[in-house]
Amino acid sequence: MHAKKMRLIRSIKEIRKLTATLKQRGKRIGFVPTMGYLHAGHLSLARRSKQECDVTVMSIFVNPLQFGPKEDFKKYPRDLKKDLKTAKEAGVDYILFPTDKQMYPQGYLTEVCVDKITKTLCGAARPGHFKGVTTVVAKLFNIVGPDIGYFGQKDAQQAVVIKRMVRDLNMPLKIKVLPIVRESGGLAMSSRNRYLERQERQDALILYRALQKARDMVKRGERNSRRIIVEMRKLIKKVDSAKIDYIRIVDAKDLSEKKKISGRALIALAVFIGKVRLIDNLILKV
Ligand code: PAJ
Repeated sequence: MHAKKMRLIRSIKEIRKLTATLKQRGKRIGFVPTMGYLHAGHLSLARRSKQECDVTVMSIFVNPLQFGPKEDFKKYPRDLKKDLKTAKEAGVDYILFPTDKQMYPQGYLTEVCVDKITKTLCGAARPGHFKGVTTVVAKLFNIVGPDIGYFGQKDAQQAVVIKRMVRDLNMPLKIKVLPIVRESGGLAMSSRNRYLERQERQDALILYRALQKARDMVKRGERNSRRIIVEMRKLIKKVDSAKIDYIRIVDAKDLSEKKKISGRALIALAVFIGKVRLIDNLILKV
């Protein structure tokens, strides 16, 4: 089906040489950073890159720096063999799969930190998380040298933070953010969904239902954020296994609080279903 072979590259030096040569030949490079355990959300990014670029590079790297000490770094799901198969089917040309040691050699001291917009929403519950994300993504951008970086709206705050980093540090690439891919019931796809037990999977649908509730209220003319959030809370509290971390309505661009819905508003939430922390969001344009 795919005439060209996909290549697995473990060495930073090697991928750097490859992409440099490709760029010299005028090829446009699309880059999809992931932590693996690929699902349709990841693949939508790879397919778009395939459409828009000459070469698609995907990284698979479970980045220790972005996990808190009590978080799931050790048990984060990994399945390289399956990932290679699915990535190939999606048309990825190169998989970069570096080791922790290559990415963070002993004695590394430099980190990239975006201020302020990393302190709210998920940043409040996960201190240091975004510093880990921006550091690894900056490194990967430097290694791969892409023309376009593809990210998912699923991690809305991450996308805003990455865009800001690229702007603030004059990084020479464009960031594209693609829509959330959902399962048929509405649950946003996530590698962490595999932690959910059967009943919890049903319970998890409440995140999307709460967002739909918000959308309906706005459609009917409600503009008061607090009233929308109250209704979302009520709905979620009906599910026993659900514990709300946050529900917030913010400006989609700078994540500042929005008391009234206007312009492009981001409704974002994080909810524990049992022990699993799930996030979801919706952008409303009014
Ligand atoms: P990971 O969770 O593997 O996600 C990789 C990319 O896929 C991110 O841009 C994410 O937003 C996107 N994605 C995940 N689920 C999606 C869905 N349901 N629909 C659309 N896109 C989805 O995000 C990370 O990894 C890491 O933080 C990373 C950026 C790789 C840095 O380590």
